[in-house]
Amino acid sequence: MPITPRPAIFCFSKTGHSRRVADAFACRTGADIVQIEVERYRFPLLWIARAIWDVGRKAAPPLLTGNIVPAQRPWIVAAGPVWANEPAPPLRSVLAGLATLEAPVGVLLTCGRSKEQSNSFATCETVLGRPLAACVSIPNDIEDTEDMDVLLSAFASAMTGRSSLGAA
Ligand SMILES: Cc1cc2nc3c(=O)[nH]c(=O)nc-3n(C[C@H](O)[C@H](O)[C@H](O)COP(=O)(O)O)c2cc1C
Repeated sequence: MPITPRPAIFCFSKTGHSRRVADAFACRTGADIVQIEVERYRFPLLWIARAIWDVGRKAAPPLLTGNIVPAQRPWIVAAGPVWANEPAPPLRSVLAGLATLEAPVGVLLTCGRSKEQSNSFATCETVLGRPLAACVSIPNDIEDTEDMDVLLSAFASAMTGRSSLGAA
């Protein structure tokens, strides 16, 4: 019997919010989580200065997990935090690595403020080189609430719908 490949969530999380939200999204969708690690943000305190510096210079730091060459996946989500009104630089690295794939790609951001993250999503599309299949931002203060469930449910429907359209 052929094995149906599972969707994948490539998740970078420095302080745990994105990981928890990605876990909730994985539970809902049956996706695999691939944890993204980078060396640059491991030093206490210094990492914050580096984070803001790297956002300004549009850096895409090398991933400790190496090049992303996902096996066939029906869809892929890149998940991580907003830093200085932009996607955290490791998300740039992930999206650049996904640019040549045909699978639909969505972005899940976590953020401290509950404002639209349109600037960050526009950057993600630029790096990916094509429109996102779907996007969602989850402010920290709705983590683990019904509001988060509603947003993740709509995001899951959008991603799942795109994958079946892609297969048609
Ligand atoms: C250096 C830095 C910059 C940040 N800039 C923003 C920002 O511009 N807008 C915002 O809403 N949240 C901002 N935040 C908050 C994070 O996006 C938020 O806490 C996120 O959930 C952290 O995700 P993580 O725990 O997965 O690392 C910033 C956090 C850090 C550390």
